[in-house]
Amino acid sequence: MCVWNGRISTVIELAPSILSADFARLAEQVLSAVAGGGSVVHVDVMDGHFVPNITLGPPIVKSLRKATKSVLDCHLMIENPDQYIPEFADAGADWISVHQEACRHLNRTLDLIKSHDLKAGVVINPATPVETLSEVLDIVDYVLVMSVNPGFGGQKFIPEVLNKVRKLVDLRTTRRLDYRIEIDGGVALDTIPEIVRAGVEILVAGSAVFGSGDPKKNVEKLLKVATKANLQRA
Ligand code: DX5
Ligand code: ZN
Repeated sequence: MCVWNGRISTVIELAPSILSADFARLAEQVLSAVAGGGSVVHVDVMDGHFVPNITLGPPIVKSLRKATKSVLDCHLMIENPDQYIPEFADAGADWISVHQEACRHLNRTLDLIKSHDLKAGVVINPATPVETLSEVLDIVDYVLVMSVNPGFGGQKFIPEVLNKVRKLVDLRTTRRLDYRIEIDGGVALDTIPEIVRAGVEILVAGSAVFGSGDPKKNVEKLLKVATKANLQRA
């Protein structure tokens, strides 16, 4: 079983997704988002096969590692992740998540991530049921629920996925597990209250942080809304 300092935290974390950042000013933009309270830096890795887009690889993670001490959360939207996990680990990733849909031997892949002393996450697309994770929930540190079909930033939030979040919350209690629940896609000021009330603890946000304006101020605003919704939930 995975342990996050012995218990599940009720603090909501904001994970700015660099996908929507200005890559020519990446460190500056990331540091601004971190200064606003973005405690997890979300790194979207796309290979042009598993998803119809290409982004970045271990060299960017290595540069980010030099620029910030914040958690680097690498979301691998790639086929054959086993081939690249050691490189991402060496580059300085802290968390690595892989798609259930991309892993033929999911248990082995999660073990590989953990063998590098990293937090291991599993991701499900909007059309993938929570039930497909039944046999790995006891070995993952976090479950990432996609709330858009992966591949691009700036898409519309799919509210139906919140039913899966609620299921994951219930399963965690029933089975006495301690994975955290992360959501990715369409997270913004208007969608956050509903997301937090469903039980999500880590919010990934790309365009809402880097799309326009000051990343620091954007993160502050998002966290304010998230914290308020979380208090209402308690
Ligand atoms: C989508 C990526 C997301 C993306 C989210 O495939 O995994 O992390 O950056 O972007 P927004 O927040 O704009 O929906
Ligand atoms: Zn992502």
